[in-house]
Amino acid sequence: MENTGPSTKQGATFLVVANRLPVDRIVREDGKVDWQTAPGGLVTALEPVMKQRGGAWVGWHGAPDEEVEAFEHDGYTVEPVPLSAEEVEEYYEGFSNATLWPLYHDAVAFPEFHREWFDAYERVNQRFAERAAEVAADGASVWVQDYQLQLVPRMLRELRPDLNIGFFLHIPFPPMELFQQLPWRRQIIEGLLGSDLVGFQMPGGASNFLRLVRRRTEHKVDRDRAIVKRNGDHECVARAYPISIDSKSFSDLAQAEETKAEAQELLEELGHPSMIVLGVDRLDYTKGLRQRVRAMGELFEEGKLDPNEVVFLQIATPSRERVEEYRRLRDDIDLLVGRINSQIGGVGRPPIVYRHQSFPRATLAAMYQLADIMLVTPLRDGMNLVAKEYLACHSGPDGALVLSEFAGAARELRQAYMVNPYDLDGMKEAIMHAATDPQREKRRRFRALKKQVAENDISKWADRFLSDLDDHGKGPARGKTSADETPSMHFVDGEQTSQG
Ligand code: ADP
Ligand code: G6P
Repeated sequence: MENTGPSTKQGATFLVVANRLPVDRIVREDGKVDWQTAPGGLVTALEPVMKQRGGAWVGWHGAPDEEVEAFEHDGYTVEPVPLSAEEVEEYYEGFSNATLWPLYHDAVAFPEFHREWFDAYERVNQRFAERAAEVAADGASVWVQDYQLQLVPRMLRELRPDLNIGFFLHIPFPPMELFQQLPWRRQIIEGLLGSDLVGFQMPGGASNFLRLVRRRTEHKVDRDRAIVKRNGDHECVARAYPISIDSKSFSDLAQAEETKAEAQELLEELGHPSMIVLGVDRLDYTKGLRQRVRAMGELFEEGKLDPNEVVFLQIATPSRERVEEYRRLRDDIDLLVGRINSQIGGVGRPPIVYRHQSFPRATLAAMYQLADIMLVTPLRDGMNLVAKEYLACHSGPDGALVLSEFAGAARELRQAYMVNPYDLDGMKEAIMHAATDPQREKRRRFRALKKQVAENDISKWADRFLSDLDDHGKGPARGKTSADETPSMHFVDGEQTSQG
């Protein structure tokens, strides 16, 4: 792929660059090609931002060995980047999801280090940078996303010094002690430092990063910024921007007549239990599913929850199924649920209803509506949007959120029933509080939680980040909100040059 160079005259003034596109290309059994919503919180969060701002979304379309043409989608351009089967194995499943993912999540699974995986990561990051450089207009704002593309900011700056480059990490940024294990730590730090602004979910992520820059590089750190010395100086600011959801769309969806009808059908299917406890996750070992299922199983076994009255509905989207740890988790949960269901309850509906599949968003909204208690108990999570979706969707006055203190969301959602997911007894106690607390107490907590999510939605998050990028980059972040008068200025590491 050839770089079109800094003199590009047309193209998008606002770009998102992410490993995932909002939609995955799939081939149905009858051979028909179709597109479906891609999994995960990144897509849930960024889709409404792109719909509102327009521009281009550069990313992989989810299938190996396929070149797909750019196309229009929901008011913006989708720019698919191809990956070979080998790259999927080494860059995506390997370095991204078997090295970085576990390392950044407190090493809750053992990170694997392989040189050829990093080589593929570098190669693919270069490809994403080149595609973004081709597609971006003069002085455009380019927003690079997540751990799969940490080398892109520097590569992009080298290709197109005129761009405003932002980066947001959706997962935790680990403490220095853990990050230092990474044999390629220098490249990753320098990669991120190519940005004008790096966003983290939590202030702790930003300070972990700046501490590393101070200790491990020759660049100076001053308060919340690094002064990057390379071909002239530029500043890279590091701050926290806790992500959210399109709260209103979720609550509107939950209030729609069709969703209410679907909730009624679901209730019927579940046999009208008096209490529904819900879990909704990507099937990922960071989500604490083993511990959660065990805790619920024990509550049933001990008779604290009556299997004739209470149902635990756990749904889990298939995820990264060719990575060993994920396969193991899938088998473990199948076994665990099977064992509990075979030992508890009568011959009717089992106490745990477990579905290993993806559901349409409207069905999720119906489930959130029905859930008396929502269990969000990850061992570690950057934010966890499911917690926020539940709060936006559940309209009853006395829902209850049981939330892990190791989810980013715990910092904002303080009125939740907090748990340490490693502490099974503590988790069981918190679930029982959520089940039995007086209505007044539950309502008080729930009202405050709902308010937090209604007031802090995804557009606020994007506006905050992009306006800071305006301030620290080289000009206004673009998109439909400020697209029209595009000044064609280039800054080459601090020096301003006019581009006609
Ligand atoms: P992560 O990004 O790690 O998957 P989040 O909780 O932030 O975690 O985001 C998960 C997203 O995936 C949410 O938007 C949620 O609605 C969606 N999701 C989770 N489980 C399912 C499912 N079974 N079917 C469809 N969507 C799901
Ligand atoms: C998390 C990550 C995203 C990722 C999503 C789904 O939200 O932060 O970058 O897209 O999980 O995972 P997948 O590997 O299917 O893209």
